[in-house]
Amino acid sequence: MTAHATLDHIPRDILCAADYEALAPQFIAAPALAYIAGASGDERTLRANRRAFERWQILPRLLRDVTAGHTRSTVLGRPWRHPIALAPLAYQTLVHPAGEIDTARGAAAAAACLTVSTLASHPIEDIARASEGDKWFQLYFQPQREATLDLIQRAEQAGYTALVVTLDASVQSPSRRAVRAGVALPGAVNLARYAVPPQRALAADASLIFQGAMREAPTWADLRWLLSATRLPVLVKGVLRADDALALRDAGVAGLIVSNHGGRALDGVPASLAALPAIRRAVGAELPVLLDSGVRSGSDVFKALALGASAVMVGRLQVYALSVAGALGVAHLLRTLHQELELCMAMAGCATLADIDSTLICENSDVD
Ligand code: FNR
Repeated sequence: MTAHATLDHIPRDILCAADYEALAPQFIAAPALAYIAGASGDERTLRANRRAFERWQILPRLLRDVTAGHTRSTVLGRPWRHPIALAPLAYQTLVHPAGEIDTARGAAAAAACLTVSTLASHPIEDIARASEGDKWFQLYFQPQREATLDLIQRAEQAGYTALVVTLDASVQSPSRRAVRAGVALPGAVNLARYAVPPQRALAADASLIFQGAMREAPTWADLRWLLSATRLPVLVKGVLRADDALALRDAGVAGLIVSNHGGRALDGVPASLAALPAIRRAVGAELPVLLDSGVRSGSDVFKALALGASAVMVGRLQVYALSVAGALGVAHLLRTLHQELELCMAMAGCATLADIDSTLICENSDVD
């Protein structure tokens, strides 16, 4: 796809990034949409993610010259044209036959870092070939270390530039929306996480959670092993606590992703945006700290940066855009978010990302 690909295929109703969410029900079958849009438990955290962004307002500075403005930064030593990356999302052929291949093309057209899930519906080598620029591989630890090592080595050989290890979803409570809608996932990995393989039959009084699914969950020893097993920088996704953040930094991770999995991990945890300031304070200014969960606009990106994020990741919006217009939709979504951020920066008097700080936002007293 070229940067000049026609925009005629973008529905005229799409006027802002969040419009892709509004339009998605016309393009995604109801069960798949329930799987994507849904979250765990009572969906409290899903709602909290959005409320957290509404809780902040922007306090613009006047009379600043922003004519030399740009949104460039350096992340893990590499140049980024803007601070908007794609979060890892599983099973993208659910919404579009080309799935992650088109997502990678869209990310390349918009100069965005792409993160490919362990649960991608195409081989990670094929997705890597469709991409340009930074691409990260999201790793779920596998029950056997050899299988984890195999994934790491495939990612290294395919040209991925970092590993993102997700630690908040060793067990997942399935979305009730998705279960009720009867979604069938390719490979049936996710919703079947509670299933204990037959060779691991449990004692009669054993817990399906503690002795079952969690027997294979990674621990600090596994993380230390991972850091020694790869030459790639490792980011940890799913961080919500300042003490974990500090311990991870001290263990040698290259960056953190403050995330609650878009409300799909433990329900009732704080919004990622609410957890961010304490984590940034704990780890200091140098460590890359990205944020996801609830980002729907350029002004959301601005607020996350003002509260300490180095960059953000976009989850559901990317598959909504993919469903609407394939690679072009993903590119258009990213370009729209980028332009929304630029507009917000210009109107707030910020010429660079470094100008965005906590003095530019204030709490919104209208929201409880
Ligand atoms: C996810 N997420 C996710 N995370 C991960 O580390 N590996 C994965 O395979 C997936 N798969 C996945 C599928 C679907 C359908 C969704 C909605 C989410 C979580 C994702 O990376 C990210 O944390 C959230 O989507 C961010 O929240 P928003 O942007 O969707 O609000």
